[in-house]
Amino acid sequence: MNPSTLDIQIKKAKSSKIGQVDFNNLAFGSIFSDHMLVCDFKNGAWEAPKIVPYGPISLQPSAKIFHYGQSIFEGMKAYKDEEDTIWLFRPKDNHARFNISASRMAMPEIPEDYFMEGLETLLNVDKQWIPTTDGSAMYIRPFMFASGEGFHASPADEYKFIICLAPSGAYFSGKVKVLIEQKYSRSANGGVGYAKTGGNYAGQFHPTQLAKEKGYQQVIWTDDHNHENIEEAGAMNIFVRIGDTLITGPTSDRILDGITRKSILQIAEANNIKTEVRTLTVTEVVTAANNGTLKEMFGAGTAAVVSPISAFGYKDQDYELPVVKDGYADLMKKTITDIQYNRVEDSYGWRYRVTQ
Ligand code: PLP
Ligand code: COI
Repeated sequence: MNPSTLDIQIKKAKSSKIGQVDFNNLAFGSIFSDHMLVCDFKNGAWEAPKIVPYGPISLQPSAKIFHYGQSIFEGMKAYKDEEDTIWLFRPKDNHARFNISASRMAMPEIPEDYFMEGLETLLNVDKQWIPTTDGSAMYIRPFMFASGEGFHASPADEYKFIICLAPSGAYFSGKVKVLIEQKYSRSANGGVGYAKTGGNYAGQFHPTQLAKEKGYQQVIWTDDHNHENIEEAGAMNIFVRIGDTLITGPTSDRILDGITRKSILQIAEANNIKTEVRTLTVTEVVTAANNGTLKEMFGAGTAAVVSPISAFGYKDQDYELPVVKDGYADLMKKTITDIQYNRVEDSYGWRYRVTQ
């Protein structure tokens, strides 16, 4: 963190809720730390950020977020090592992507010092909340939405930027079985698929509920044109290992440019694993499943880390993935988490030390 340039006022909570938390049994993103960072955009400029007790916020019913869905978010994690040092993973990439999302949704960009200094100050205020139990981390949710009023369908003139913290365990519990979607689409050319905007997720809930009723945890989205190409999952980019080659689809304006995805591609290269970033058809995956060359499928994302897929469903048939020992998913998960928790040297320069 640079020497403080922002005057971040801190209003502490009267009492802490931390005593009520069972850090050995953390769900994902369902309990929240004592404080949050709040910053308002008014009259064409960002006001000074404030740290306040976590709690309800007040908005007018005419705030444009409720009507036109101008909202964006990021997903990050903070990790604490054995010396109680706090680490982030490639946080400036999240900041850059936040502004890419902001620009697509006609929202103001947030300056890097507001994002980084705000986050680091908040993490210091609530550092006791960063879990150290195995598989847990502090999930960080920076978000921004239109707080300005009006029913006119046009961008708002006021926005709120908030960062909340949620000590969290694993995103998935148990095996991940996915359904390759054949009817609904998540995104389309020229759309907002690459932006982390609320509507992208709301639009997935109904098809995902239908998939859940059939016993799947996630949908794998295919292209909106003919549902023939594998794109990504609800909260993860997708990797497929056929033979010894690791394949993932190219990013585009339909797909989120995942930070875990690009880290995995770099780790694969460093480990002499052959990778292909190219269009991957459903037919190719089904053929590989049938002829025994499909070795692994896994999802990659901040919340999900690296989540092996145990089976996929396609056109009323289920295809089981083989159980692979020491597979690519294991290598990727171990390499990434060892760097995140400061268990190994970081030859990639991804780890970021939070000033304490
Ligand atoms: N794809 C979608 C739709 C996501 O929501 C996420 C999660 O952030 C990802 C992919 C993975 O991105 P990242 O690795 O940057 O978390
Ligand atoms: C993340 O991985 O951080 C995400 O944003 C996924 C989220 C929808 C839970």
